[in-house]
Amino acid sequence: MTDSSKLSTPEGKSAELPMITGTHGPAVADVRGLNKATGIFTYDPGFASTASCKSAITFIDGDEGVLLYRGYPIEQLAENSNYLECCYLLMNGELPTPAQSEEFNKTIKHHTMVHENIRDFINGFRYDAHPMAMLVGTIGALSSFYHDSLDINDPHHREISAHRLIAKVPTIASYCYNRSRGLPFMYPDNTLSYVENFTRLMFAVPAEEFVPNPVAVKAIELIMILHADHEQNASTSTVRLAGSSGANPFASIAAGVASLWGPAHGGANEAVMNMLDAIHDSGETIERTIARAKDKDDPFRLMGFGHRVYKNFDPRAKIIQKMCHELLDELGGDQPLFALARELEEQTLADDYFKERRLYPNVDFYSGIILRALGLPMNMFTVMFAMSRTVGWISHWMEMHADPENRIGRPRQLYVGAAKRDYPA
Ligand code: CMC
Repeated sequence: MTDSSKLSTPEGKSAELPMITGTHGPAVADVRGLNKATGIFTYDPGFASTASCKSAITFIDGDEGVLLYRGYPIEQLAENSNYLECCYLLMNGELPTPAQSEEFNKTIKHHTMVHENIRDFINGFRYDAHPMAMLVGTIGALSSFYHDSLDINDPHHREISAHRLIAKVPTIASYCYNRSRGLPFMYPDNTLSYVENFTRLMFAVPAEEFVPNPVAVKAIELIMILHADHEQNASTSTVRLAGSSGANPFASIAAGVASLWGPAHGGANEAVMNMLDAIHDSGETIERTIARAKDKDDPFRLMGFGHRVYKNFDPRAKIIQKMCHELLDELGGDQPLFALARELEEQTLADDYFKERRLYPNVDFYSGIILRALGLPMNMFTVMFAMSRTVGWISHWMEMHADPENRIGRPRQLYVGAAKRDYPA
């Protein structure tokens, strides 16, 4: 703790607001005693000035373009680590030893299958159900299958549930995809790596041998590492809020999936592809598209450009850009849509309007293109995001339950409705 500041009300009441500092980042004013001392609340729609918890998992510095998982820069993890190792790191706070890594891999693989009734459950959805609708429903339904690990006060139960979620969400995600395409549900193959297994679940058919495509595996692994956590965003905060009441982990993660579904959060990479499709279909030029984005009388914005937090650059975008270029060269560099994307990227990076406002292509610009190049339909993009972020959500849920300061999340409000009045006699 460092200094404190004093807040006084017009009625002459006052409160000391101690300043608390973390490892990195700005100090925060501790307003916990404010209401008791003065009777007033703080007003902060969107929580832009509010730290809702202490967390030791992920750090972001938007001005400097920094993203750390448990202290490790995302660039180094993307280069040297793999998704399951990042899962272990996020959940446990340290990188695993080789023995811990082997044990963790074994544990996750042990849980990759789902109860046969889950398959029936997914088959019960309408033929044209959105995969995100199936995912949110099915993850919530998992709580009805795993009564043996629902004691949220038992750290061992919390850990088993975390392992189950990390292991089963890819299986469920693939079934949501296969259901919407009328394809058979494959069983997991635990001889494969976590990501190889996912590609098999998605793209294999029982009638033919399946060999994972190393290019696709590498790209998906990278996307999953980059999306594994992003501190207190809307969906993570939703998981914490839902879980703070004591809701079980499956219900809490389902709440996070629901929050992620919104276009302002997990749907941005889909919006990028919609924009590129629209440019392509209309025959619009890139010059004209950029001019529209700069025109203040036109509501059009370039999807996949700019970021609310990263005002310098999105460190994830830099990493994924390289992968995107490699992948397009390998898989689909000559397709007109990808040529459009490259032209748009090049022209905006050279344009003063974008340079002055520090508007760079963000992670969604590249992930949308990569997922499209891998042949995934757009309605699976947010599912892929949810699958990657499951570990972040569950790590925050576990951290919250291990925190002695944890209380049920219960924001207050500024009431602006009708004044008290009498029911007409
Ligand atoms: N195209 C054209 N102009 C833009 C864009 C854009 N994509 N983004 C911002 N600007 C302009 C904006 O008009 C403003 O100009 P001026 O200073 O002349 O008024 C200036 O840049 C600053 O914009 P802002 O609206 O204050 O920036 P913000 O931080 O409020 O918005 C944003 C950030 C991400 C909502 C916005 O950049 C945007 O709408 N981008 C497109 C949607 C998108 O790609 N979203 C995904 C974000 S990444 C999500 C994740 O991390 O998961």
